[in-house]
Amino acid sequence: MSVLVTGGLGYLGSHAATQLSEEGNDVTIVDNLSNSSIETLERLNEISKNNIKFFEADIRDTDQLKYILKQNEIKSVMHFAGLKSVRKSEIEKKEYFDVNVNGTKTLVDLMENNIEGDKYFVFSSSACVYGKPSYLPYDEDHPLAPENYYGETKLEAEKYLKKTHTKKNKWNIVILRYFNPIGAHASSKIGELPLGKPENLMPNILNATSNNKQTLEIFGSDHETKDGTAVRDFIHVTDLIEGHKDALNFMINKPKEVFDVFNLGTGYGYSVLELIKTFEKVNNKKVNFKFSKKRDGDLAIYYAESKKAKKFLNWEAKLSLSDMCKSSWEFYKNYK
Ligand SMILES: NC(=O)c1ccc[n+]([C@@H]2O[C@H](COP(=O)([O-])OP(=O)(O)OC[C@H]3O[C@@H](n4cnc5c(N)ncnc54)[C@H](O)[C@@H]3O)[C@@H](O)[C@H]2O)c1
Repeated sequence: MSVLVTGGLGYLGSHAATQLSEEGNDVTIVDNLSNSSIETLERLNEISKNNIKFFEADIRDTDQLKYILKQNEIKSVMHFAGLKSVRKSEIEKKEYFDVNVNGTKTLVDLMENNIEGDKYFVFSSSACVYGKPSYLPYDEDHPLAPENYYGETKLEAEKYLKKTHTKKNKWNIVILRYFNPIGAHASSKIGELPLGKPENLMPNILNATSNNKQTLEIFGSDHETKDGTAVRDFIHVTDLIEGHKDALNFMINKPKEVFDVFNLGTGYGYSVLELIKTFEKVNNKKVNFKFSKKRDGDLAIYYAESKKAKKFLNWEAKLSLSDMCKSSWEFYKNYK
C-alpha cells in the first residue's frame, strides 16, 4: 500500500513512517522541517531498510501536494503535520489556525479532487478537545469544549473531517485523540527531538538529568491530585503508533465507508512526580527540577477511557511507564 505520512520527520510521524515501511508499505513523507531535521530521514532509512520517499513541502502548498498525491498514487494518509504547543497556540493563533485547520482542509480537498475511489485518512487529534472533565475517564462521547486554542484548532479540523465524510463519496476517516505520548523507538535511533526549546514534558526531563545543568520547571504543586502535580495518561509512542496501523486496517476491512473517533491512551493517570521518580529509578539518573506556578488552563487530572479502541480496533496499550522512561533515555544518550 502507498501511504502518505504528513509531518513524517516529526516525533510521532517518524515512528509511523518506520513502522509502515518495515511492514512493506510504500511510504512518502511530506514535512516542511519547521519542527524536525533532515537527519531523521537518514535514521528512518537505516531502521526500515526500505526506501522512504521524502518531499520537503508545506501541507498548504497545493501545487506540490497535488503532484505528490498523483505521482505516488496515494490513497491512504496519516496526517501528523501540525503545530502542537498549547502555550504558543495562544500567542500565534493565526499560524495555528492556518496550519492545523486550513492545512488539514487543503489536504482533504486535494485528496477529494485528485484521488479516485476509496480514500483512507487517519487524523492526529488530541485529548485537548475535551476540555474540563465533566467526568473521568474521558470517553469519546464526552462533551467537546477545549480549554485552549490548540484544542480549538484540533476540534475545528475534526468538524471539517466529519463534514467531508457526510457530504462526499468514498471517504474513510478515523480520528485518533492522543493522550500524552512519550518514549522512543526500540532502535534508539528516533525519538522526540524538537527544534529549539522543548515544550513537552519528556524532552525537558531529559535535558534536566544530572549531567546536564538544566532545571525542569514543574507547573503547579497545588493541583488537586495525590501529590499536587498534574496527572496525565502517558502512553508509549510504540503503542500509539500501533493504534494507527489498527485504525487503517479497521477502515480497509470494513465493507462500508467509515467515520469514527477513538481515544488512544492507557486508561491510567500518573502524576508528573511519579513520572520523574520512575525515570530516575529505571535510568539511575537524577532529574533537577523546581516548582513554578500553575499555568492558566492547565487541568489537574485527565486520562482516557480506551475501551472503544479495544473493542473495535482490537488495540490496547501494552508498554509500561518504565518502558517509556527507559526508551526515552536510551534515545537521548544516542543523540545528545
Ligand atoms: N506529541 C504529543 O504530545 C501530541 C499529543 C496530541 C496530539 N498530537 C498531534 O500529533 C501530531 C504530531 O505530533 P508530534 O509530537 O509528532 O509533533 P512534531 O512537531 O514532532 O511533528 C510535526 C511535524 O510536522 C511538521 N510540520 C509542521 N507544520 C507543517 C506544515 N505546515 N507542513 C508540513 N509539515 C509541517 C514539522 O516539521 C514536524 O516534523 C500533531 O498534529 C500534534 O498536534 C501530538
